[in-house]
Amino acid sequence: MKKLVVLTGSGISSESGLKTFRESGGLWENYDVMEVASFSGWSKNMELVLRFYNERRAQLKDAKPNKGHDVLVELQQYFDVQIITQNVDNLHEKAGSTKVLHLHGILTRARSTGDPGLIYDIGYDPILPGDKCEKGFQLRPDIVWFGEAVPAIEEAANLTAQADLFVVIGTSMVVYPAAGLIDYVPKGVPIFLIDPNDVAVPVHRHIHFIREKAGAGAVLLKEKLLHNHLA
Ligand code: APR
Repeated sequence: MKKLVVLTGSGISSESGLKTFRESGGLWENYDVMEVASFSGWSKNMELVLRFYNERRAQLKDAKPNKGHDVLVELQQYFDVQIITQNVDNLHEKAGSTKVLHLHGILTRARSTGDPGLIYDIGYDPILPGDKCEKGFQLRPDIVWFGEAVPAIEEAANLTAQADLFVVIGTSMVVYPAAGLIDYVPKGVPIFLIDPNDVAVPVHRHIHFIREKAGAGAVLLKEKLLHNHLA
């Protein structure tokens, strides 16, 4: 089966009721990003950071995948679908996607501040001050903060370089290194982008824009792919 590599951002979870980051009313309008999503913010006010992610984790418990997530699951019947997501929600997994690589971590895991190799599944439970790893270090959300390395980027670039089809859904393409993955798409490979708003794409390639929200856009994408790109 052809390899269909899909890069997703918070826009795909918007129709599930989860906020995006940079739109009006988005998360970064209500929080100072460096206070809640950086190590310096953590060092300055751990309680604030824990509260920020505990609230998002609690909200995730009842969040349901939407049509955008579901269509990517349907496409697994026809393509070898690999999702590379910037999202820290688990809606791709909840929908039934089997190959999901999280670039920026995931809300349902905690990590040791003393030994980053110690990672724990915490479901939708809060992380509280005093919650320690087995070595006695405070636990933090297993999220990649601004200024921190993105350990999965090399694997993501390798997957992208093997793509027969590449799709971008619901990301403003302003955060690196994720936005730079499009540079690894082999020449001649069709690139589709689904977004209801303009997105400045950082490459001089022909992009098939589907100017729609994720749900409606994914349905259109599936039609195009099944008609023109199966074999
Ligand atoms: N369907 C599809 N796309 C949508 C929808 C929707 N229903 N609603 C909004 N969008 C689009 C917006 O037009 C925008 O292009 O989703 C994009 C959201 O962009 P951002 O808010 O910048 O979020 P994202 O690209 O996911 O952010 C990247 O930045 O803050 C960090 O680590 C965080 O992973 C995140 C990264």
